[in-house]
Amino acid sequence: MAKKYYITTPIYYPSGNWHIGHCYTTVICDALARFHKMKGEEVFFLTGTDEHGQKVEKEAAKRGITPRAFIDPLVAELKDMWRLLDVEYDRFLRTTDPDHVACVQHIYQKLYESGDIYKAEYEGYYCTPCEAFWTETQLKEGKCPDCGREVTLQKEESYFFRLSKYAPRLLRLYEEKPDFLRPRSRVNEMVNNFLKAGLSDLSVSRTTVKWGIPLPFDPKHTAYVWIDALSNYVSALGYGTKDDSLYRKFYPADLHMVGKEIVRFHAIIWPAILMALGEPLPEHIYGHGWLLIGGEKLSKSKENARPELTDPYALVKRYGADAVRYYLLREIPFGSDGEYTTERFLLRINADLSNDLGNLVSRTQAMIVQNFGALPPRGAEEGPDGDLIAMCEGLYARVDAAMGALNAPDALAEIFAVIDRANKYIDETTPWLLAKDPQKRARLGAVLYNLAEAVRICCELLRPFLPAATEKILKSFGCTAPTEPVFGVSKEGTPVEKLPPVFPRIDVKKELLEVEALCKNAQKAVPAPEKSTPAPQNAPEKKPEIAFEDFQKLELKVGEVVACEKVKKSEKLLHETVKIGDALRSVVSGIAKYYTPEEMVGKKVVVVTNLKPVKLCGVLSEGMILCAEDGEGNLSLVSPERLVASGATVR
Ligand code: MSP
Repeated sequence: MAKKYYITTPIYYPSGNWHIGHCYTTVICDALARFHKMKGEEVFFLTGTDEHGQKVEKEAAKRGITPRAFIDPLVAELKDMWRLLDVEYDRFLRTTDPDHVACVQHIYQKLYESGDIYKAEYEGYYCTPCEAFWTETQLKEGKCPDCGREVTLQKEESYFFRLSKYAPRLLRLYEEKPDFLRPRSRVNEMVNNFLKAGLSDLSVSRTTVKWGIPLPFDPKHTAYVWIDALSNYVSALGYGTKDDSLYRKFYPADLHMVGKEIVRFHAIIWPAILMALGEPLPEHIYGHGWLLIGGEKLSKSKENARPELTDPYALVKRYGADAVRYYLLREIPFGSDGEYTTERFLLRINADLSNDLGNLVSRTQAMIVQNFGALPPRGAEEGPDGDLIAMCEGLYARVDAAMGALNAPDALAEIFAVIDRANKYIDETTPWLLAKDPQKRARLGAVLYNLAEAVRICCELLRPFLPAATEKILKSFGCTAPTEPVFGVSKEGTPVEKLPPVFPRIDVKKELLEVEALCKNAQKAVPAPEKSTPAPQNAPEKKPEIAFEDFQKLELKVGEVVACEKVKKSEKLLHETVKIGDALRSVVSGIAKYYTPEEMVGKKVVVVTNLKPVKLCGVLSEGMILCAEDGEGNLSLVSPERLVASGATVR
């Protein structure tokens, strides 16, 4: 029977304004889930949204809408973000899902009947944004110790969970199972700061919050949001229902991955609840670090989350999902905090993906296509072959060990060490010289076979991290289904195709200037403070001066539109097929308001042909058609004044 693997992310507050820090937990879990699937394990990967509580109730009331109407679009956005980032979960649980609500009620009922929940009066300091109660001694200078914001003193009748009763068992747990919580530093924090100081019973119901799950034995009380939220890890599998087959199959969780600020809830409260229910504890909890900006947690409430720099949608649109995933998985030392800067992001993508991986793939493909047309036979080993092959052979075990330790950066470092070795192997074996000597054709074939195998094995092991790019690369080497990451399984004659660069090189300096300009423009769009002089209407946008060499980087060509249609699901976009010289290109442009598809066909247009291809509404765009914009935002195509052939250069 296949081994099971149950992995969870925290469920997200439906707050909107998502930033790249939010993506961290879920992207790591997705890579782990994919890796375990690749190993043939039966995986259940859970994520979702944490929808109840005072914060949502207040936000909805402010807008005069129901909590549900407030949340639904935010949940849709979050799901969209996971889709964009290629996150493949098995269930997206919403705490408003009826099965979750029933399960939470079942848990409360059971704990009430066993005497672990009792009624008393609560007095405490409540932090609404954190949905957390604090005692006076826990406050930092009278403010919330987690986020530093104002707290309010609240007194109400409440049900309590006997958390204090479980402190000795929790202490024993940390002694007996040192890897229950990782990294180790978090165990010390839990044991020294909380458990050793003794635990107070926990208030687990509210009468003041209406947007919550009513307690079955006293419906004027609603469930405390953290108990509601934590229960998602078992409700998602049908715990306490007639059909609990998923629960029996997958629970206990193999891993609850959480950010470090919510370790306390997962490493103390959740195990205590499970102990009280008589259910098994999760195997592991991991408390990862934060993405920081300027040394502070990247957070929309701290306003250091700038959409132009940190919005996952903008980043994926500009650089692709794999680049964002790669950065998160490789750059942040696992378990620690990591500073996020656009420059570091761009440099990392260029160095590893465009240069190391991209060059290896394109050089290998080009030489195979040029010299053999398909995969040549595996030849006798000589020179540096043994070293490369040995590195490839042991790679799976090394990646597996790193992923077993939940260390994605190390796993990626192992794979990129082989990619580096393979690039060095090209320099050592000089296949371009072998190609000139017909006597050395067999050796050339052997070298290229070895390179193709190195690429294949690295890409197979990179699948969980870079799902889209590896799929493309592996297909171009004739691998239409996953293959064993073992050296020598590829067959001679397997078709090989030359791909355009999978990760086109980014001009970092230029890109940083562009991003900076985007930020400035966004700042301009923010309403001006009262006293400032209003900006003149339609003032021409002034861009920074550029050198002639910068302009020369643009490739502009005359093209002829040979076909055009509307892009489905879009009001603004047209999809043109443009003939440039002898080649056809797919281009998407936002001109549907100004031209009909019929009007476009036959038009001579100017196209920027070296723009990084992107997908717009799912349609590939390999260039940009230039338009002039009048002061009112209307667009008019730019065309050569005299008759020139398509393919002519514009300069
Ligand atoms: N709803 C609770 C979790 C309940 S789980 C039973 C919650 N939600 S959250 O939306 O605030 O956070 C979701 C995840 O995003 C958490 O793991 C959190 O640590 C993570 N991150 C939010 N900002 C982050 C960074 N700047 N860096 C890394 N991860 C961060 O907490």
